[in-house]
Amino acid sequence: MAITDIPRTLWWQEDESGRPAVYMVDQSRLPLVGDLLVCGTHDGVCAAIGGMAVRGAPALGVAAAMAVALWVINESDGVTDTDAFLAGIDAVAAVVAATRPTAVNLAWGAERMRALAHASADRPLPELRELLVTEALAMSEQDEERNRAIGRHGAELLPDDVRILTHCNAGSLATAYFGTALGVVFTAHEQGKVAGVWVDETRPVLQGARLTAWELKMAGIPFRLITDSMAASVMRAGMVDAVIVGADRIAANGDVANKIGTYGLAVLCKEHGIPFYVAAPTSTVDLTLESGDGIVIEQRDPREVEGVTFSGVLEPDSATASRAFETLTADGPYALPLAKGHAMEITRKGAGYQVDGWVRIAPPNIEVYNPAFDVTPAEYVSAIITECDVARAPYGESLAAACEGSGSIHEL
Ligand code: MRU
Repeated sequence: MAITDIPRTLWWQEDESGRPAVYMVDQSRLPLVGDLLVCGTHDGVCAAIGGMAVRGAPALGVAAAMAVALWVINESDGVTDTDAFLAGIDAVAAVVAATRPTAVNLAWGAERMRALAHASADRPLPELRELLVTEALAMSEQDEERNRAIGRHGAELLPDDVRILTHCNAGSLATAYFGTALGVVFTAHEQGKVAGVWVDETRPVLQGARLTAWELKMAGIPFRLITDSMAASVMRAGMVDAVIVGADRIAANGDVANKIGTYGLAVLCKEHGIPFYVAAPTSTVDLTLESGDGIVIEQRDPREVEGVTFSGVLEPDSATASRAFETLTADGPYALPLAKGHAMEITRKGAGYQVDGWVRIAPPNIEVYNPAFDVTPAEYVSAIITECDVARAPYGESLAAACEGSGSIHEL
């Protein structure tokens, strides 16, 4: 068990037919099913983003750049004229950037590719194509470097024997590799500073219970999983020394959009005198927005709140599984006719069967409100840990200085 056992989140590799492709760990089914997704087109990456197979702001930035690179290398063969090529890049970048609204890294990744294409338009097309693919791969490497720097800066803020609480997954899986908030935890753990981590389960999609718990277990770091509603009580009991979360978009004034539930934690920290740290690369800082009021919050499928999903694999030698599914001949997926609105699909997988289901908890035909993110006002944030520096209030100045140093300023 070591941090190095955590796989990279996504990478560029030729598929079985020798065509360039983006490989990614399918996070929608982790930890019980550990599948890889292979995307050969920008549409494939967009579908993976929509289905939460790849998620987390910095990982979305890299996925966006790789999606544009896939169009460049696999889908623009027929384009021989530079103007048409640039128009194609503009269109694809716009489609990719629109897949989810809140994490600014997504638009940032697509825009960086678009801007490079326009700035290098005097090159012959084959050279331009190569340049763009190289850029997407470099963004993945830079993401890891930035996260490691965030980890070093953040670990310096923590006392010995620190007990950290975190929310959602701002781990390696939310980035190309290593993580932002968990990057700080990993670094502090390597320095022998971490006594334990409290992991919020993070309803409704359960990124904490499914992904953060999986990463910390893999890294051999002691942690305890709690439901979101338990955070107040563990803080009041004096069992939390610091809260560290990631971010999806940070406005120029230091207001932070992050997974729903983050704002409540920040308020609790203020009440209990606990530092509330945000760890994020400067690519998450959106200096075009004065405050968090301008951040668009993604509204998601009510079914996330009305019930829970599950995925699993039935082993081939399970007699019950074989009996139950012996009539299935093709690969599926087969939708089972379940009562009460529950849903289940079975797909043949090698010699076994994969099961994907959704269990209804709430009664049918009700109103649901499901914002995926909230905004924490800057006054609750003790510090924003970036790859350049630890920014503190007044954030207007400190964030602008950090972004200036990194070259990540947004021109969307
Ligand atoms: O909906 P998700 O899983 O893409 O949301 C991710 C988050 O909100 C995380 O909390 C994270 O801090 C931002 S990415 C490091």
